[in-house]
Amino acid sequence: MKKWIDPFDYANHILRMLKSGVLLNTQADRFNSMVLSRAEMGLIWGMPTFTAHVRQSRFSREQLDRTGVFTVSIPLSGELSPEVLRVCGELSGWDTDKMGQLGLLPAEPVENGVPGLSAYPLTLECRVLFRQALDLTAIPEEYRLRHYSRGNDSGDFHVAYTGQIVSAYILE
Ligand SMILES: Cc1cc2nc3c(=O)[nH]c(=O)nc-3n(C[C@H](O)[C@H](O)[C@H](O)COP(=O)(O)O)c2cc1C
Repeated sequence: MKKWIDPFDYANHILRMLKSGVLLNTQADRFNSMVLSRAEMGLIWGMPTFTAHVRQSRFSREQLDRTGVFTVSIPLSGELSPEVLRVCGELSGWDTDKMGQLGLLPAEPVENGVPGLSAYPLTLECRVLFRQALDLTAIPEEYRLRHYSRGNDSGDFHVAYTGQIVSAYILE
């Protein structure tokens, strides 16, 4: 069962949950989820939107570029479990079947073909309107050095995917 919602009624909750992490689900060859903290909700061209900032190197980025759709799964109470945080926030879909490892139950999507997750019932189905790569020459040096100049992160900039929220509901 799905309870339809206006995403703006939950904006405060969704934005607060970003601190500890929500799940960004994608599906091209297979279903994959990654932990996401860097995101915004807003209104563009009169449409409710969710923007996810995904580093270039992520498997999720590749799936997003291929499909142009994503679904966000957000805990309604509590936070992502430590196991989900570890598997979806540290392991990569490039070489791991995260959903197989975690045994999370996918929930049938309505509009965009990418499942939500019954364990994290607040669900936003999104269709990408546009993507924008972060211009590393245009951000303050302090943040560039801190976030884009070390080890594996060197030059691994974020790409912002702004998706129209095409369906929003709570899985019951
Ligand atoms: C709390 C938390 C928040 C994160 N937020 C982001 C984020 O906003 N953008 C991003 O690209 N990676 C973020 N990550 C890292 C990815 O979740 C992680 O690299 C993941 O393994 C990528 O999976 P994938 O390669 O299957 O896409 C975060 C990780 C944690 C633990």
